[in-house]
Amino acid sequence: MKVTVLTAFPEFLDSFLTTSIVGRAVERGLIDVKAVNLRDFSEGNYHQIDDYSFGGKGGMTIMPQVLERALASVRTNPEAKVLFPTPTGAVLTQDLVESLAQEKELIVICGHYEGLDERFVRECVDLEYSIGDYVLTGGEIPAMTLIDALSRLVPGVVGKELSVTDDSFYNGMLDTPHYTRPAVWHGQEVPEVLTSGNDAQIEKYRKRTAAFLTLSRRPDLLSRAGVMDYLEDEVYLGLAVSPHEPTLACDLAQIAETAQAYGVARVIAAPQQREDFDALRDALSECPEIKCVPSVRRMTEWAERKKHAPLLVIAAEAQPGIPWLEAKRRMIETSGPVLILFGAQPQRENVIAMRPQQTTGGELPRTALVAATLDRFFGSR
Ligand code: ADE
Repeated sequence: MKVTVLTAFPEFLDSFLTTSIVGRAVERGLIDVKAVNLRDFSEGNYHQIDDYSFGGKGGMTIMPQVLERALASVRTNPEAKVLFPTPTGAVLTQDLVESLAQEKELIVICGHYEGLDERFVRECVDLEYSIGDYVLTGGEIPAMTLIDALSRLVPGVVGKELSVTDDSFYNGMLDTPHYTRPAVWHGQEVPEVLTSGNDAQIEKYRKRTAAFLTLSRRPDLLSRAGVMDYLEDEVYLGLAVSPHEPTLACDLAQIAETAQAYGVARVIAAPQQREDFDALRDALSECPEIKCVPSVRRMTEWAERKKHAPLLVIAAEAQPGIPWLEAKRRMIETSGPVLILFGAQPQRENVIAMRPQQTTGGELPRTALVAATLDRFFGSR
């Protein structure tokens, strides 16, 4: 990837481009970053690049013809994306960084003082981005912020691939806290599991702490995070059905496939009327992947017995019920397995009722409803 930074202060980037991880990536040719001086395209004897803003209070704005010349000189590819860091831009998120990482060439134009002439921005800039809700003196730090975040995504720049995929925001979750030697510092011990040598338990601990940190500090991220890997225990999908529905076997086979794709451990079906159990077993005789039980009660008993832990039941399609995002929070917080249940709302402890999907033109078919529900919990965006 090639990134050119147009700036009145190229020296700002000198140590950034020669130090640490980014410095090594530039040196090894993994990323090609150059800072080009806007003053090389200045006007007149005074090397002017900016002028007083019309109608302003004495602030300076970089002139459009200077920017135009500079851009024409550095652009090598007509497809290059032109970016302008500004506090009024779209917030730079990991998602935006990931989509910019797909580009071959980026040109970042740094404003100073009052920024760039708006006519140039309108004509030549593809994206205005902000690194946060505060005002800096210029675009150089936001340019370096973007380059730093981009370079971490270039294969080979960060040592182990794993450390990039584990980082905050990568799966929509914050990163887990880190510890090093000494094992005790100021009386505080490193969590015991981290020194246990048990890789599976360590992985689980890291995922759980990441989930709880996200829940407490950035709950807004949860709507886009797939939470299956962050749960304490397994997830089951339960369906209370009538065996007399003509497309039942086909629907449930499709649902089982969907559930497997999202990491659900087991799909269990029960008849709405207990006396229909034999008929249900017959109807699903060709679907060995679906477990049949005589009633919803037996379904919950089976899940509890299997895991010896309190079961959280999320009754989907319940009215009135809590929003799905709240159900997702409860799913993370629970310390046992989870059963997502369609078609029934049992009267027992640890049942939460979740509102149906909001649609505008009628009800979703059951296969679509289950897929949409599972995607909200376990798909990541
Ligand atoms: N220029 C000045 N402040 C900025 C910010 N917060 N983000 C991007 N560019 C800026």
